[in-house]
Amino acid sequence: SELNTLATALGWKYFGSATDNPELTDTAYVAILSDNGMFGQITPGNSMKWDATEPERGTFTFSGGDAIASLAEGNGQLLRGHNCVWYNQLPSWVSSGGFDAATLTSIIQTHCSTVVGHYKGQIYSWDVVNEPFNDDGTWRTDVFFNTLGEDYVGIALEAASGADPAAKLYINEYNIESAGAKQTALLNLVQSLQSAGTPLDGIGFQCHFIVGEVPTDLQASLEKFTALGLEVAITELDIRMTLPSTDALLAQQKTDYESVIAACRAVSGCVGTTIWDYTDKYSWVPSTFSGQGAACPWDENLVTKPAFDGIVSAL
Ligand code: XIL
Repeated sequence: SELNTLATALGWKYFGSATDNPELTDTAYVAILSDNGMFGQITPGNSMKWDATEPERGTFTFSGGDAIASLAEGNGQLLRGHNCVWYNQLPSWVSSGGFDAATLTSIIQTHCSTVVGHYKGQIYSWDVVNEPFNDDGTWRTDVFFNTLGEDYVGIALEAASGADPAAKLYINEYNIESAGAKQTALLNLVQSLQSAGTPLDGIGFQCHFIVGEVPTDLQASLEKFTALGLEVAITELDIRMTLPSTDALLAQQKTDYESVIAACRAVSGCVGTTIWDYTDKYSWVPSTFSGQGAACPWDENLVTKPAFDGIVSAL
């Protein structure tokens, strides 16, 4: 059972995985990642972010991102760009601020148009703006919002659109998978961008979940955005647990993966799912959430877990 083969047979554009440059020296890992029956799409976990691509103002470095892009091309896989504008993993020359509105506008335009332009023709979809909201639905008070207010979102989207008109332009966010203030804030932003004629094609649902806590209204949440004429995708799926893993937790995790895939499958505008790396060996979870892990469908030895079978059953 190969995930991308099953997914594309259902009409999805891809089933994919995130990856990161340091992992590409692991030949057993790369062999599974590069099987385009298993994964028809990859996302760079870090190497297209601002700190990696423009570490100093006007100095662009694409070696890490290019390595992922050539891997995708060689494998015949789609590529998601991640990301142009985000409050995190910013070089200090940006995050320290001190720019007036016109200067920061120009900095965002140069960054987005240069990075998106560099990968023109190679990207299925770009996370142009990542994580703009706090969990209570207020705007994150990062350098972008503090200087430009919400206008920074349209500035980034317009610049990306000009640089690669064929790429699908996304806003990517977490904790929007269930009804609530943050989801409402994003729905309102979409409508205001659409009223202004700003280019926007899709919404990424990150879906960093906890075992036993997958929202029951995930499908309904996806449909609120497709009802506005957008496509949606699950962009960073993983489902973590408090360690150690047990048979019971792994069984619940299987059910949880199955529910997420079934929700995307049930929504005609849900174009695909990306897991935030396929193996526990390289998951970001243990280093970010203390005491938690085992979030991926393959274990640390690159062996499939019950979660993998859950995905297969839902496809
Ligand atoms: C994570 C990477 O996986 C880690 O390697 C890095 O140390 C921190 O960022 N939401 C996002 C991703 O949009 O960019 C994050 O990726 C995970 C949370």
